[in-house]
Amino acid sequence: MKKRNARKDDSSLAQKPPKLQPKKKEKTSTSWLKVVVLSLTAVVVLGFSVKILPVLIQQFVFMYRLRLPFFVDLSRPADFSLNHTVNMYLTPQDGISLGVWHTVPESQWKAAQGKDLNWYQKSLGDGSPVFIYLHGNTNNRAAPHRIAVSQILSSLGYHVLVPDYRGFGDSTGQPTEAGLSTDALYLYDWVKARSSSSSLVVLWGHSLGTGVSTNIAVKLQEKGVVLDGVILEGTFNSARQKMGGVSPFYWFYASLPGLRYLFTPEKKAVFPSEENVKKMKCPILFLHSEDDHLAPIEIVQQLYEIAASSQSKDRVKLVTFDGSKGYLHNGLYRDPELPAVLKNFVESL
Ligand SMILES: *[C@@H]1O[C@H](CO)[C@@H](O)[C@H](O)[C@H]1NC(C)=O
Repeated sequence: MKKRNARKDDSSLAQKPPKLQPKKKEKTSTSWLKVVVLSLTAVVVLGFSVKILPVLIQQFVFMYRLRLPFFVDLSRPADFSLNHTVNMYLTPQDGISLGVWHTVPESQWKAAQGKDLNWYQKSLGDGSPVFIYLHGNTNNRAAPHRIAVSQILSSLGYHVLVPDYRGFGDSTGQPTEAGLSTDALYLYDWVKARSSSSSLVVLWGHSLGTGVSTNIAVKLQEKGVVLDGVILEGTFNSARQKMGGVSPFYWFYASLPGLRYLFTPEKKAVFPSEENVKKMKCPILFLHSEDDHLAPIEIVQQLYEIAASSQSKDRVKLVTFDGSKGYLHNGLYRDPELPAVLKNFVESL
């Protein structure tokens, strides 16, 4: 109703335009007036952009506003061919709501039809391995390459939990490095409280998610918890990838047109993966495509060497995928060998 009233008001205003016929004499002064008005508008618009630009910059650091496909309903995972998945909202912190999908092992897809949250939570205690998938910096948990990973893990008989960090997807709040870690740690604790004590709980970080994964692996170790296993796919290393001292993330976005100026030091995102892998004591599996255009293969090779020499080659593995396959940064899920690689890793834990 309010909206309608407002519209009525608008139209009544629009109905009485001033009927001033400019006289010929006034023509010159009118065009001068136009120039003045246009210049003033330009000044105001420019001033305004300078003011809002820092805000825009902040928005783009994690690119979490870039939500493709648009208009998806994240509360209906079955619409994304995940018919044995439940959508839920967790509260890692006051005022922060996280959208999370939980997919059960594929063998349970029939039993899962029409089941509620309770059923899903109980199923977490069935002893199957549980994966927490921490995604990259664009889009949300419905992105096709993320759904594909859930389907592979589920077909192998594992549970998969895929959160949208704060500010991503339908989760509330603003993303920061610390906030993303809080969200992931909360989900880990949530899973541990519900899974069987014999269940493996494995983290899988992709891209930005690798930074979150190594951050929380170290945080958990400080509390005396060593993760069962961590998969790092499409890893970056901010310590080795500074470009011109601009931002550790400059390299990451330099290849995305128009975005290179958006990564400023103010955001203070660090993601010290190299320092983290030196400290990590859990088995690590690096997955990387040789043609990854955002995170060059040399970077992960260095990181692998660092991690392997801090632990041992038994506990740290690197599996690379031939560049000719064209997987780039997101496409590893397409590899027919991937399920076997994952299964071997889980069985080695
Ligand atoms: C539900 O998902 C499972 C596992 O992906 C699939 O095998 C099955 O065909 C799907 N069933 C329906 C009715 O969509």
